[in-house]
Amino acid sequence: MAWSAPTRISSDAEVRSLAASSLVKLFDSLYEGAVVIDQEGRITWINDKYKALIGWNGSEQIEGRLIEEVLPNSRLRNVMETGQADLLDVLTLGRRQMVVSRIPLHGEAGNIIGALGVILFDRLQALKPIVSKFQQMQSDLAGVRKQLAEGRHAKYRFSQFVGASRLALETKEQARRAAEREGAVLLLGETGTGKELLAHAIHAASRRAEGPLVSLNAAAIPEALLEAELFGVEPGAYTGAGQKKRMGKFQLADGGTLFLDEVGDMPLSLQPKLLRVLQEGELESLGGNQLRAVNVRVIAATSRDLKAMIEAGSFRADLYYRLNVLPIRLPPLRERREDIPVLCETLLELIAEQGGEASCTLSADGLARLAGYEWSGNVRELRNVLEQAVAQSANRRLTSADFPMLPEVVTAPGVSQVSSNQAMAPVRPLREAVAAAERVEILRALEATGWVKMATAKVLGISRAKLYEKLGALGISSENQDTSGDV
Ligand SMILES: Nc1ncnc2c1ncn2[C@@H]1O[C@H](COP(=O)(O)OP(=O)(O)OP(=O)(O)O)[C@@H](O)[C@H]1O
Ligand SMILES: [Mg+2]
Repeated sequence: MAWSAPTRISSDAEVRSLAASSLVKLFDSLYEGAVVIDQEGRITWINDKYKALIGWNGSEQIEGRLIEEVLPNSRLRNVMETGQADLLDVLTLGRRQMVVSRIPLHGEAGNIIGALGVILFDRLQALKPIVSKFQQMQSDLAGVRKQLAEGRHAKYRFSQFVGASRLALETKEQARRAAEREGAVLLLGETGTGKELLAHAIHAASRRAEGPLVSLNAAAIPEALLEAELFGVEPGAYTGAGQKKRMGKFQLADGGTLFLDEVGDMPLSLQPKLLRVLQEGELESLGGNQLRAVNVRVIAATSRDLKAMIEAGSFRADLYYRLNVLPIRLPPLRERREDIPVLCETLLELIAEQGGEASCTLSADGLARLAGYEWSGNVRELRNVLEQAVAQSANRRLTSADFPMLPEVVTAPGVSQVSSNQAMAPVRPLREAVAAAERVEILRALEATGWVKMATAKVLGISRAKLYEKLGALGISSENQDTSGDV
């Protein structure tokens, strides 16, 4: 190529003119599609590639239509109106994401007469990493949003609150009634008695079930952050608050239920503000100066003795009365021991489901050992003990020996462990109790003699004919072999 003297650029006007023509050439070579709108936002020109990209039917006139008619989420009008170019942006067209530029077009007099939008799609190889990163972030965001939405729904239903004892049924009944009403619920009970389970079940059975269920554990969040967590933060409310508004749990729960767990751990300094929201149904976020109405039902829970805390001055009496509209006491496991067998059965099934294995069963002596324990950690502790036993035992049928972590049951001589377990069952008609006792003794004798009927009749001191008659009446057959006494 012959050498030519470098062009001398000597004026502003020259720079502009050269830059403009070079830019046009650059756009020409880069763009995948281009569209121009006029001052009214109507398309005055669009190239065929763009038409093909949006799948425009060739027979219909596109020029003259409003840009939003053709591209509903176009930002071109905005660029034309503000005069601010969007040099690089990502536009979503169907499932595709494209890099686009939007430039306001100036007339001779310098006034804006329209805008140009160009799609710089595949050609800009250099932008590929950014685009794929953007796509990754979008898909992560969608995942997190989905998780959050799932996290705001009830995990439990009433059917999962296991127990048929009088106390369990009463608790469940009270909770069902609370679900039909709107007042604040206060769940009181020792650790592991099912307060969280019941809070979810009440929300799920209430009129607010379609709304969010948001939980906040007052004991798990440092005091300094609790106010912001509950009521939200306005941009720049305090040093380090950030420039974005953050929603508080009350706002997130709007239209639904807020589960205030461990409410007894709510710092005294925050209690007046909480009381105000409960009383007025309005809240003020941190650094905000406007009150905002919220429609939230509160279900609070605690294992603490709130009345004693009021006496000691660490819990406000007025807040207590606001929370205590519908109080529900959850009985500890030691007050409803007759529920232990059915709880074990359910928990063993759940443990098996999680491990993807067949469920373990309990022998009578295993059950007796569990039923005799104090269970200060209640259902949670029972579950943990069963989980440990399942993990450590080679047997599918757990016996007393599989629970070395619990004290052994001391039984009076002559009283079988099965009958000591029965001592915890509710009182029933004598006929039924006698039949049950006969059944247990006959099964024990059958086990002891290896199911040889003649020998069984002998140990029991009855005739063989009498034994057959009893077996028939009690519905015992060799199918009962090995499964007798299982949960
Ligand atoms: N009645 C019940 N039936 C079945 N499972 C139960 C029952 N009560 C509690 N559980 C189970 O026991 C565990 C503890 O329950 P939950 O977390 O609701 O207790 P909690 O009262 O909130 O305890 P904490 O005060 O320690 O937070 C959970 O796994 C729950 O599913
Ligand atoms: Mg809890």
